[in-house]
Amino acid sequence: MKAIIPTGGRGTRMQPLTFSLNKHFIPIGGKPLIFYPVETVIAAGIKEIGVTYNPGYLEEAQSILGDGSRWGVKITYILQEKPIGLANIVQVCEEFLAGESFVFHLGDNIFVDGIKEAVDYFEEKKPNGLVTMLHHSENKRMGVPYFDDSGRLTKYVEKPENPPHDFAVPGLYFGDSNFFKCFKGTEAIVPSARGEYEIPAAFQWMIDQGMRVDVVEYKGKWLDPGKFDDWMEANQFMLEREVTEDKIECEVGSDTTIENNAHIGKNCIIENTQIKGPVVIGDNVMIKDSFIGPFTAISSDSKVEGARIENSILMNEVLIKNYPDQIDSSLIGPGSEIINTEKQSKKVSFFIGAKSKIIV
Ligand code: DAU
Repeated sequence: MKAIIPTGGRGTRMQPLTFSLNKHFIPIGGKPLIFYPVETVIAAGIKEIGVTYNPGYLEEAQSILGDGSRWGVKITYILQEKPIGLANIVQVCEEFLAGESFVFHLGDNIFVDGIKEAVDYFEEKKPNGLVTMLHHSENKRMGVPYFDDSGRLTKYVEKPENPPHDFAVPGLYFGDSNFFKCFKGTEAIVPSARGEYEIPAAFQWMIDQGMRVDVVEYKGKWLDPGKFDDWMEANQFMLEREVTEDKIECEVGSDTTIENNAHIGKNCIIENTQIKGPVVIGDNVMIKDSFIGPFTAISSDSKVEGARIENSILMNEVLIKNYPDQIDSSLIGPGSEIINTEKQSKKVSFFIGAKSKIIV
């Protein structure tokens, strides 16, 4: 079995950051979001991964993920010409799959407790298709499965108005080579009202042709960091989970204190600073005269001087200087600068894109 992971789409829910950045490469818990799907499929035993991209994003995807050798797997990059739907993502991978079955893991979902059970189910029971489901209070904005007592999918609808229960299908799907038949011939699936080749349409086509598509419940923790608030919540969750001991790869002066677990990268200069974890700090970061509070992740090559930061994500090459007010619940794009010239005292929250500049 091979894996497919997409990095395309329009990223509308994370604008303005996604006007200049691909959401899959924005960090959560100190690493790019895309690392989670990649590491999850690898943990389930997959050795070959097809990463799809929309035009303009190949170089960035390659520089972040490489060829997979750092994980001992092979990553192949596959162009999806336009973001015209999840079924189309699988369709453009037909040649890459070369007749093998696939697991399709959305690039913006995190299956915190792994996907091994679902992989084993698909390999052992060998249905033609398999989707997962979980309880979700807002399943009207998701794919919804209809199924019988034996766990066979009978109908599968994208964003229905009146779902019959609270189950929804998260971004984890399996199929064998029969999946590709839905794109061929006069009965081929067509785009939905919103102009997309929907993934439910492809599985519905299989069901209508009498193929076996099963559904299994995913009982683990699932994160879907779509909007800003979900992103910050996912960041908190992953930092809490992953940063459970100190991992310090640079010298830290005696005028600095570290409480409650931090990961600090190479070549950092940290002076006269209080760090209260869980915190992740990348390589080549300089922090002076500051407080770095819980649930903060600072990416490489950033500089923080005279600041109080909590529950925030600073991307790479951010500069924060002499900012006396507490920066809280903020996501700050790469290369941005926040510089204070006047003293004042209040709490602020930023959600700012790449290369922004805030001077107060
Ligand atoms: O998160 C679970 C939900 O994901 C499912 O319940 C829905 O059935 C499924 O359609 C999907 O809904 P979204 O509206 O959240 O999908 P979104 O457009 O955000 O795209 C999901 C992922 O696929 C994301 O990693 C972006 C990528 N993508 C999306 C499209 C439409 C592409 O790479 N190319 C595309 O053409």
